[in-house]
Amino acid sequence: MIKLDVGLGDRSYPIQIGTGLHPSLKEHVSGRAVVIVSQEPLAQHLKTLLAFLGDAPKSVTAYPLPNGESAKNIGELEKIIGCLIEAGLGRDGLLIALGGGVVGDITGFAAACYQRGMDFIQLPTTLLSQVDSAVGGKTAVNHPLGKNLIGAFHQPKAVFVDLDWLDTLPDNEMSAGLAEIIKYGVIADPDFFTWLEANMAGLRSKNKALLAHAIARSLSIKAEVVAQDEREQGVRAHLNLGHTFGHAIEAHQGYGNWLHGEAVGVGMLMASELAKSRGMLDDEQIQRLYRLNRAAGLPLKGPAEMAPQTYLPLMMRDKKVLAGKLRLVLPIGLGQATVVSDATESEIVAAIATVQSANH
Ligand SMILES: NC(=O)c1ccc[n+]([C@@H]2O[C@H](COP(=O)([O-])OP(=O)(O)OC[C@H]3O[C@@H](n4cnc5c(N)ncnc54)[C@H](O)[C@@H]3O)[C@@H](O)[C@H]2O)c1
Repeated sequence: MIKLDVGLGDRSYPIQIGTGLHPSLKEHVSGRAVVIVSQEPLAQHLKTLLAFLGDAPKSVTAYPLPNGESAKNIGELEKIIGCLIEAGLGRDGLLIALGGGVVGDITGFAAACYQRGMDFIQLPTTLLSQVDSAVGGKTAVNHPLGKNLIGAFHQPKAVFVDLDWLDTLPDNEMSAGLAEIIKYGVIADPDFFTWLEANMAGLRSKNKALLAHAIARSLSIKAEVVAQDEREQGVRAHLNLGHTFGHAIEAHQGYGNWLHGEAVGVGMLMASELAKSRGMLDDEQIQRLYRLNRAAGLPLKGPAEMAPQTYLPLMMRDKKVLAGKLRLVLPIGLGQATVVSDATESEIVAAIATVQSANH
């Protein structure tokens, strides 16, 4: 087991990474009324969790959230809150998110809202949620006009990453998580990037020792950034490398059609081409990034039907737009990043066009 801590004063919390459920999970549930939000593909894992918890909680209710990004909406939130009321949860109850980022985001937001705030625990089951969404306290549901527009910062009490959950995860979901892992190397750790180049095949074949290292390194970078800048006033923005381009792809394709991680992977290439055109990244470095994305099973281009110009209006809807200016995270070499707000439309379109016409 690897233990990390997210240092946020009296809101600090532990992250446990390993195979099997960590015994300390029982301490969190002991004597409390518990509601577990999960989804149908997690049925087997929910069974294992219920057996593990046994009669430690005062009561347990399982809430089945419909599958897919479209379930992250205000109507489903209301239903979860209804379940909490019917299960008789007070503020001393506990919500558990067993699932990927969709379950984690809506459950966290329900915990932030219910009786003005209650405890919740993240049990992330996709690679993407294990390396990213379960940590950091961003919780949200979508509005028909945009993703994650209704939300709150609300930190979990603990995060338990059980690598065994990944056994049932489909390959494309593994690749989506690997995109976020690559992102940490690009923004913060050149040695980790090199390690990923050497170990990508093993990660894709779900080697547990390699996954434990990759997840722990990713989360230690995320935990450090969140501890410095919980509410994204500064350095936390670096975690959004590739996301502004990626959101344009997701919005254009309809959320859920391109996986978030796949869109982020292509977005990282677009941000990197822009960085290269500004002399911040050299040709060898960008070629390494294309190769690593390919090795991770990620797409190397955006959707063919999406002309480079169509990205701009969709990118302008990003939450990082300030005073009408796009703020883009760009890599500086491999291992550092910065935010720029002076990228011109023609520079952005040219970078997208370079990715779309590259021959890899
Ligand atoms: N809060 C944050 O900081 C943050 C960061 C990144 C992404 N997100 C959000 O996360 C969401 C995407 O999360 P995701 O990529 O985990 O997708 P997801 O939650 O939709 O999960 C993908 C699919 O895999 C299934 N699944 C989950 N675990 C499984 C397992 N172990 N075996 C088999 N199937 C499994 C799910 O039921 C679902 O059908 C988006 O809504 C995005 O906005 C949030």
